Amino acid sequence: MKTIGVLTSGGDAPGMNAAIRAVVRSVIYHEREIVGIMRGYLGLINGEIIHMHLGSVADIIHRGGTILHTARCDEFLYPEGRAKAVKQIKKAGIDGLIVIGGDGSYRGALDLAKLGIPTIGVPGTIDNDIACTDATIGLDTAVNTVVDAINKVRDTATSHERVFIIEVMGRNRGDIALLAGIAGGAESILIPEVPLNIKSVAEKIERGRKRGKLHSIIILAEGVGSAIDVGKEITALTNLETRYAILGHIQRGGTPTAYDRMLASRLGAEAVELLLKGESAKAVGIEANKIVRYDIEYVLKQKKPIDLELVNLAGILAI
Ligand code: F6P
Repeated sequence: MKTIGVLTSGGDAPGMNAAIRAVVRSVIYHEREIVGIMRGYLGLINGEIIHMHLGSVADIIHRGGTILHTARCDEFLYPEGRAKAVKQIKKAGIDGLIVIGGDGSYRGALDLAKLGIPTIGVPGTIDNDIACTDATIGLDTAVNTVVDAINKVRDTATSHERVFIIEVMGRNRGDIALLAGIAGGAESILIPEVPLNIKSVAEKIERGRKRGKLHSIIILAEGVGSAIDVGKEITALTNLETRYAILGHIQRGGTPTAYDRMLASRLGAEAVELLLKGESAKAVGIEANKIVRYDIEYVLKQKKPIDLELVNLAGILAI
């Protein structure tokens, strides 16, 4: 294996740059060549491939986003698109590829591996929706961003004695909402993994009012529905004024936390080790703070359960 390629794909996540840096530095440490593919699978199809060196990844460990840029690429979903990608890989002399991204990116990595390109997946997404890893790169930073927003909303919610609904990302997963909701002391946390009971949310607000708690913060995962609709329903049930904040793409940016930088550094370096050992179609992850490796195919077939202990804890603490 002489030349390794690296790309980021799908939604960006804070810490992707730290992962790219770890890949580039590890490859150079092992005295191999490293190239970067711009714009994920789209750039691969179009042959947007750049030579990378130590200077390419200087001063990026603390930066959000991805220096390689990213894209969602429909063409790669079809055999013709993938054939073009393989052609570009061969033309550039790439012997192995590291894909940093979410589940869609993993599917692409598996397809390439099946076409004979040694490929390793590194989990990079704020959603934490990849199985066989406790955390994905970007989750921790996104959670901290949400907690910061909750702190700020709490100030104004207290002053005005209002009910606030804060809508957070996560696609079909409730991890960001659950972790940030507990850490931010939310009164209710609504996630797709737990059936929504809006009446009990309203009753909890009213119980709080009777005890003299005049403001409430509800964290709503986007997979449950929209903050506007939930706000209207709560007003209809309680007759209370509501306000909402939809945090959106703010959660995808910003300087990565130390946790995300560490995770990205460890996983990026491990991906290189695996390729150099001749592995392919593997995904790296972290379980109980230890690096783990699984077949991508297995990872994609698993349904990642939500942490029920945390769901239970959220219910206890928000009594
Ligand atoms: O997968 C990351 C994510 O931020 C999801 O949480 C969100 O639903 C989606 O991407 C938004 O995608 P886009 O940036 O394409 O609007």
